[in-house]
Amino acid sequence: MARIALVTGGSRGIGAAISKNLKDAGYTVAATYAGNDEAAAKFTEETGIATYKWNVGDYDSSKAGIEQVEADLGPIDIVVANAGITRDAPFHKMTPQQWHDVIDTNLTGVFNTVHPIWPGMRERGFGRIVVISSINGQKGQFAQVNYAATKAGDLGIVKSLAQEGAAKGITANAICPGYIATEMVMAVPEKVRDSIIAQIPTGRLGEPEEIARCVRFLVSDDAAFVNGSTISANGGQFFV
Ligand code: CAA
Repeated sequence: MARIALVTGGSRGIGAAISKNLKDAGYTVAATYAGNDEAAAKFTEETGIATYKWNVGDYDSSKAGIEQVEADLGPIDIVVANAGITRDAPFHKMTPQQWHDVIDTNLTGVFNTVHPIWPGMRERGFGRIVVISSINGQKGQFAQVNYAATKAGDLGIVKSLAQEGAAKGITANAICPGYIATEMVMAVPEKVRDSIIAQIPTGRLGEPEEIARCVRFLVSDDAAFVNGSTISANGGQFFV
């Protein structure tokens, strides 16, 4: 039977490319979304991928949503924790609300997504966790104290889960995308975006599919020995 994959934030941007790629690879995919019903309905219509609505920042909603996915499709074998938001502001202007919104979604959201699924993975002796971090969690970024903190924190989650899951057939890995051509990056003022592109040796933004192909490898049986690692897919913009 096909393995079941859950992709949070899986109906738009990088998440949509991941959902489609995993479906093409033969997985049964469930994609979550937070608010945009219209985009999710269109995505399901176009791809046949089931979409589920909940706020990853809320533990009870995540747990209930995951129970629904498992009731509909079966036990989840693969988690791609991709849901993320930005609330960029220079630190002197950043509000506590902007801090908490980003922490809740990008960091606590990973806990809330993986935690309810983890016991089943341990019992079944198989699991693949991929967390979508960011180049800005590795290098920091002007106006992203909140976002960079969460994306660096995501790497800590992955490295710890990798150690806890290894004996149970579970791997946990991170991908740090650089600047990818999505709505999130297109929302950056054009002048700033142009200056960012000038810093990318490859000379262009990445494509969502270039991240999806990394995920496809990490969730495969072939990647069983890759655990706790970080793939940087950033066009050479930053080396760790
Ligand atoms: N480095 C240095 N200075 C920067 C800067 C940067 N990257 N970005 C903006 N500035 C400067 C501006 O030049 C300006 O300077 P002056 O005041 O001297 O003109 C100043 O910061 C802007 O100050 P403001 O008080 O006017 O700022 P603002 O409150 O209007 O905020 C901003 C503007 C939100 C910072 C906006 O410039 C912005 O969005 N910058 C981009 C931040 C960014 O790169 N975010 C990444 C989003 S993509 C993503 O997150 C995906 C991923 O994982 C890679």
